[in-house]
Amino acid sequence: MNQSTKTNSTKKESTENDNSQANARTISSILTAPELAEIDHEISHAPTRSAVAIDALKIVQKHHGWVSDESLSGLADYLDMSTAELDGIATFYSLIYRKPVGEKVISLCNSVTCWIKGYAQLEKHISRQLGVGLGETTTDNRYTFLPAPCLGACDRAPVMMVGEETHLDLTPEKINQILEIKGGQQG
Ligand code: FES
Repeated sequence: MNQSTKTNSTKKESTENDNSQANARTISSILTAPELAEIDHEISHAPTRSAVAIDALKIVQKHHGWVSDESLSGLADYLDMSTAELDGIATFYSLIYRKPVGEKVISLCNSVTCWIKGYAQLEKHISRQLGVGLGETTTDNRYTFLPAPCLGACDRAPVMMVGEETHLDLTPEKINQILEIKGGQQG
């Protein structure tokens, strides 16, 4: 290696180190140390940094309740991905929230089996009882109401998740109990 090649290679390493230090500074101002520790743990047993994208998004969401544009962009840098790539994954995965949500998210399945088994009636019921439409949050910030693709329990349709819990064989009465709606209208 001649002197000029050596100098170029040293300069490149130095630039990479500078970039990685800059990224580390940026990410540490966006995500907390415990979040980064959890993400680093996932990275430590993954083939590439980008392979942990969904797990990393879930970690950010667990700590913040949702994934903001700023978190998404910082996380994309940290995982060596473009913001657009990571946003595509976050948008595709229906349980990652890109806007602030209430304390609990109601995810009502609107895929084919649940649709046939009464999705439309249940959607109207929940909207009427809580006073919110799909995509909205109740005024007390208790619930955000969202549609969801198949939740994997089609044989027990209609199905919804409330937070982490899955509820099966739904009826309007059962929904009232689950959401602790007292004396609500039926249907
Ligand atoms: S269609 Fe609703 S759980 Fe599969």
